[in-house]
Amino acid sequence: MEQLKEKINSALSLEELESIRIEIFGKKGILASEFAKLKDIPGPQKREFAQGLNEKKASLQELFDIKLEQLKEQELNKRLKAEALDVTMYSNISEKGALHPVQETMDKIIEYFVAMNFAVESGPMVEDDFHNFEALNLPKHHPARDMQDTFYFKDNTLLRTHTSPVQIRTMMRKKPPIRIIAPGSVFRRDYDLTHTPMFHQVEGLVVEEGDKVSFANLKSILTDFLHYMFGDVEVRFRPSFFPFTEPSAEVDISCIFCEGKGCRVCSHTGWLEVLGSGVVDPNVFKAVGYENVSGYAFGLGVERFAMLLHRIPDLRSLFEGDIRLLEQFR
Ligand code: PHE
Repeated sequence: MEQLKEKINSALSLEELESIRIEIFGKKGILASEFAKLKDIPGPQKREFAQGLNEKKASLQELFDIKLEQLKEQELNKRLKAEALDVTMYSNISEKGALHPVQETMDKIIEYFVAMNFAVESGPMVEDDFHNFEALNLPKHHPARDMQDTFYFKDNTLLRTHTSPVQIRTMMRKKPPIRIIAPGSVFRRDYDLTHTPMFHQVEGLVVEEGDKVSFANLKSILTDFLHYMFGDVEVRFRPSFFPFTEPSAEVDISCIFCEGKGCRVCSHTGWLEVLGSGVVDPNVFKAVGYENVSGYAFGLGVERFAMLLHRIPDLRSLFEGDIRLLEQFR
């Protein structure tokens, strides 16, 4: 009896205890064979023997149950310890975030113009025909409207095709002098390697009373700006047409990929077009009720700048949210 108790007490694991259980309490176990002796015991002693055996069995069972609980708890603790997870533990493999290349490029552009004393303005993305076209010297049925593939709603409302309506809104709200940039999203029905239906522009507008503002001012600030963005490049002003400026110029930089020698990116011209600009057309001033003023304006596509600065071949990849692209800009 003492030996059996000793055996139960010495079990080190649930597994070991289970084999002890079979050995003692099992069908062919020690207790079973003790009970088997009953039939050979003469009548009068039978009762006493059985009683003693039952008591023995009960006390072994009690001991066993205690041991079972003990071992269960022990093994649970062991498992909890092994599987413990310290959620406060420091991990140095955390991922760093990064600005989206379009945002980063936008920030750099804004930084330049703010340093040059320009204020930052904004306007609605859902515009009306007057601010997006009419006031910018683009009357209805004017062929130049076709240059901009517009998303129309009904009743003269549309998604703005450029940031130029912010020029109109600012001039209708304030008197000169005006010196603003207007960064924001614009929308056109276009989708290919270099066009997405939504993209970003930064508009610039400077207006002063009298004839103080000239094309020379425009030329000087945009040249300086492009050197700030692209470093040591050549800058060229090429005569062009915009309904809201006269004279108008598109601004090119010498190709940053081939340094002007001619390559696939610059279509073998040696130049990359990066800006639209010009002296504000008198009709625009008339539309906003300005008299006796002078000014210049410019507009640029932020994605185009980002693509050139980061050598991104497909504009659409900027808007797919693919982490593999974004990871490269940390
Ligand atoms: N709004 C023109 C465009 O979207 C750019 C521009 C702005 C040109 C201001 C000249 C002056 O193409």
